[in-house]
Amino acid sequence: MSDYDFDTLQLHAGQESADPSTKARAVPIYATSSFTFDDAETAADVFSGKQKGNQYGRMHNPTVQAFTDRLVALEGGKGGVALSSGQAATTTILFALARPGTNFVVSKELFGGTFAVARKLLEPWGSKFIAVEPQPEAVAAAIDENTVGVWLESIANPSCSVPDIAAIAEIAHAQGVPLIVDNTWGCGGYICQPITLGADIVMHSATKWIGGHGTFIGGAVIDAGSFEWGAERFPAFHQKDPRGKTYLDKGGDAPFSARAYDLGLFTMGMTLSPHSAFLALQGLETLSLRVQRSCDSALELAQWLEKHPAIKRVIYPGLTSHSSHMVAKHTLQHGFGAVLSFETHDLETAKAFLDNVKLVSHLANIGDAKTVVINPWTTTHASLSEEAKRGAGVSPELIRLSVGLESVKDLKADIAQALTALKVV
Ligand SMILES: Cc1ncc(COP(=O)(O)O)c(C=O)c1O
Repeated sequence: MSDYDFDTLQLHAGQESADPSTKARAVPIYATSSFTFDDAETAADVFSGKQKGNQYGRMHNPTVQAFTDRLVALEGGKGGVALSSGQAATTTILFALARPGTNFVVSKELFGGTFAVARKLLEPWGSKFIAVEPQPEAVAAAIDENTVGVWLESIANPSCSVPDIAAIAEIAHAQGVPLIVDNTWGCGGYICQPITLGADIVMHSATKWIGGHGTFIGGAVIDAGSFEWGAERFPAFHQKDPRGKTYLDKGGDAPFSARAYDLGLFTMGMTLSPHSAFLALQGLETLSLRVQRSCDSALELAQWLEKHPAIKRVIYPGLTSHSSHMVAKHTLQHGFGAVLSFETHDLETAKAFLDNVKLVSHLANIGDAKTVVINPWTTTHASLSEEAKRGAGVSPELIRLSVGLESVKDLKADIAQALTALKVV
């Protein structure tokens, strides 16, 4: 299928023909925890990996597999694993690479949940994050002989900064380190395709634009199949299991995917339900159409808000005023993302704005078909120290706006009425 365009792959990859047993055109929801074996020999062969087949629902499900294969195709990867949440995908990647004594060089603007995994799980276990500005020079200076990964987000939340993925991939590779990109804001490969820019591992919260309708929680890991895991820095990839096989043997051209599957599904059991995988598949079928519309509307709203007297500052990489604008032009495609942030006069005016919106929903999610807003200072980033919040580009008066699919005229009308009562900056 790899010759097809993105718009075709989002409908067909992972399901190349109708369901063979029923001829159902949509991917069926295989609601089963287990699968029968034709005979004892087959059971043994499936368990040993000699033969492909479904064993048990914690690791195998055809609906989940169709979703995984479709997302891998859209991201240009060689393999992948779907998981129960974006957070599950993050935890799986970090523990697939870490050992006590190792470190990850990460952008200081990462999603708070990613820092929570470092603080609550990695650090007590002896591995740590080194948080730096997501700039090539800062990343190069921080990598040392114990670094086992560089971690970026394609578009940061809520500062909307865009790192130079291609330049940072080169730096990481020169030091024998893989680049991981949380591409949640890159919308399933439509706005950003980190693998084509040199990333080795892509992570997603499928809860956001992939599902696209705010109806489930899910995540995924995608393996570019590009990284050489043979170095001493990554002993887990060449250690033999009790059957005498390494992940390099088992994974074919996607060894990281084999390790993520083993840790995330087999060992930790962070399995995506087939019902959620079905919703994710439905979301992917219209991904490019939805995301294009949201990005176009986000740009129009950003330009309009920039001129609004009640707004102090608009933060959107599609605006020439954003410090990442030039990098975003060559790192993103089709648009500049579906989220913008803006600053009102102060925290009180930000709260008043949230209380005034009617059409726009006030909630802690992004990537919904409906437009949503939040004040990160008092909610999503509230557990961080003031210094960490400011480091992530969060100020008390900041509002994050994830633009959905409503008419821009109606969105402007709702935002305008919510702003009229506020102090002019
Ligand atoms: C950039 C980013 N990464 C990861 C996550 C975690 O995903 P989930 O909520 O699906 O666990 C989120 C959730 O908001 C996110 O925005």
